[in-house]
Amino acid sequence: MDTQLEMIICLGSSCFSRGNNKNLKIIQDYLKKNRLEHKIDFRGHLCSEHCNRGPVMRINGKWYEQVDESNIMTILEETLGGVK
Ligand code: FES
Repeated sequence: MDTQLEMIICLGSSCFSRGNNKNLKIIQDYLKKNRLEHKIDFRGHLCSEHCNRGPVMRINGKWYEQVDESNIMTILEETLGGVK
């Protein structure tokens, strides 16, 4: 059975306006490009109460803070790079 990795992006207004709007698109493109859409349980979430450290996202229970265009690809490669 395929690995099911859980990935949650905070779509609360603070995170969304501070970068998760762009991160959302980057993640969707990454999943599509790497054909991972069916292997990753990717969902949006309302405010996760980490606004002061946002934009935040969570991958398999681990929180990633201040995710932006400069570090999101590294996070995706580290967490999803091994999922085929
Ligand atoms: S809006 Fe993302 S933690 Fe509050």
